[in-house]
Amino acid sequence: MEIALIPDGEPAGADSVRPGSGTDYKRRLDIPSSLYSEVALYIVPRARKKEETVAQDVEVAEEPVAVVERGADADVEELEGIGRVTGQKLKERGYYTVRDLAFASVKEIADIIGNEERAAQIIEAARSMLGLSNFISALEVYRRRVNIKRISTGVRSLDELLNGGVETSAVTEVAGEFGAGKTQFCHQLAVMVQLPEDKGGLSAKAIYIDTENTFRPERIAQIARARGLDPDQALKNIYYARAYSSDHQMILAEQARRIIKQDNVKLLVVDSIVAHFRAEFPGRENLAERQQKLNKHIADLLKIADAYDVAVVVTNQVMAQPDVFFGNPLKPAGGNVLAHGATYRIWLRKSKENIRIAKIFDSPYHPEREATFKITEEGLTD
Ligand SMILES: Nc1ncnc2c1ncn2[C@@H]1O[C@H](COP(=O)(O)OP(=O)(O)OP(=O)(O)O)[C@@H](O)[C@H]1O
Ligand SMILES: [Mg+2]
Repeated sequence: MEIALIPDGEPAGADSVRPGSGTDYKRRLDIPSSLYSEVALYIVPRARKKEETVAQDVEVAEEPVAVVERGADADVEELEGIGRVTGQKLKERGYYTVRDLAFASVKEIADIIGNEERAAQIIEAARSMLGLSNFISALEVYRRRVNIKRISTGVRSLDELLNGGVETSAVTEVAGEFGAGKTQFCHQLAVMVQLPEDKGGLSAKAIYIDTENTFRPERIAQIARARGLDPDQALKNIYYARAYSSDHQMILAEQARRIIKQDNVKLLVVDSIVAHFRAEFPGRENLAERQQKLNKHIADLLKIADAYDVAVVVTNQVMAQPDVFFGNPLKPAGGNVLAHGATYRIWLRKSKENIRIAKIFDSPYHPEREATFKITEEGLTD
């Protein structure tokens, strides 16, 4: 969907406007009314004054949307202040493009070039080259958001729940008890992402990091066939790796980043994200170390999602909370680290036979709704 700017005086593209809440501003935008609350949150308080005082800010937003793309894939050596030697050092450690630097932390870069102040300058230069450094208007934020692509789940009710599917540039966590369908959900997405856009996909490939040895190529073939894809081709389009430990899992995430840079990958699955961490760091005495490592891993995944417009989907087990007597005694593992790291969280639970119920929780903008789906031979269906 594009935002069309409508000249002043034209009929409103909107059907309802709240009195006294910046109607002039809204009237100029062909924004579906369902999204008003989100847009209004940012722009309404200043909208009345717009004509006199903030008109210039709005001009900024009328630039092409691809600001982030500008120069993003330029070689690190094209940045001012980076010579051949520094450039080589950075590349040896996996920082090839301006984009890689823009999303790096000062510590990471300082470890490579041995100077914190210079690292900060380099990162700042990279961000500024990509237009990431400055404040932008909320309208620009909105524009970038409407350009975010989604991967359809292939299930109407689930897509409705997710406002169209699983988002790129975000980390989606799928939590649930054993047999709830988390792994099936991941298999389905690994196929769906390959479909053309008019069928809900992104004509792209997937990376699948499997920590529990539950990836089943024959299941991919089944789902692919049901979606009209050649099973062999669908399997070829999935990069697969089994992670044997938490350290290995983190290395694989880094390797995934390199693949994503070179190939058309739009989905990165980690099934499951916390299993190794929980097994290797049991008990309260190891909790701090475990959470620290998990935190780093999730931060890496978030960076991949953000920097490469990839949908990252991670699964998570739920665990019993012995001290909860009222309400739901189950909660997702991983604690606050995951709760704060994941952009969207979906909870799956079993109903009778092959019926499953999905619910979104902790989302910044999805209402807490539920959707029902089935797990069948063809994969997830309505
Ligand atoms: N080919 C198939 N046809 C129909 N149903 C299937 C098929 N393969 C798996 N299922 C169903 O999927 C369910 C298992 O789901 P899944 O493995 O995704 O659970 P999970 O949430 O990943 O569990 P865990 O926490 O153990 O990893 C089972 O109920 C199984 O019956
Ligand atoms: Mg599973």
